[in-house]
Amino acid sequence: MGFRLDYETPSGWVARVEEDTLALLSDHAHCELKAAASAQAMVAKNGHHSELVDALSAVAIEELEHFTRVHGLIRARGGTLEPQDVNPYAEGLLERSAATRKVRFLDRLLVAELIEARSLERFHLLSEHLRDAELAELYGALRQSEAGHQALFERLAKELYDEDVVEARRTELRAIEADVVANLPFAFRIHSGVGA
Ligand SMILES: [Fe+2]
Ligand SMILES: [Fe+2]
Repeated sequence: MGFRLDYETPSGWVARVEEDTLALLSDHAHCELKAAASAQAMVAKNGHHSELVDALSAVAIEELEHFTRVHGLIRARGGTLEPQDVNPYAEGLLERSAATRKVRFLDRLLVAELIEARSLERFHLLSEHLRDAELAELYGALRQSEAGHQALFERLAKELYDEDVVEARRTELRAIEADVVANLPFAFRIHSGVGA
């Protein structure tokens, strides 16, 4: 992995989350849908930055492809996409980071980078430890794409802002993210906590 996280998820999380794979897949599908929507929103607000427009519209397409792939698996397993509910990970991250935010769009890019990095960590764990071979393969296959997204958000941040400013804020956000994840309850979700 190209990104260091301040909290490392124990591999035992996988066995717990594997107890309800349909719920996990539904949450995952919503994450992909949100990632696509977020990339599109960044494109809409930064039309003057042609490279960003090209790169993030490509991300939006990839995330929607991930969504359709996950949704296909949900259907194949007899499920349907469950209604979306509040995502305590993303909400916690946004709420906690807003308190010390100085540059709105820099935070937008760096929070997106962090979410990609945490997703990548979880996909890696799932691909290594799931007993369900089909799902393990899915998570293995998605890793490369999410690693590419993480690297892209980092690169865009460093192109648009001073490198020292970027690194200082990355360090702060990494600590916030670690604290948010470490204190989340367990749930059948991609970004859940380990819980008690
Ligand atoms: Fe994705
Ligand atoms: Fe992604």
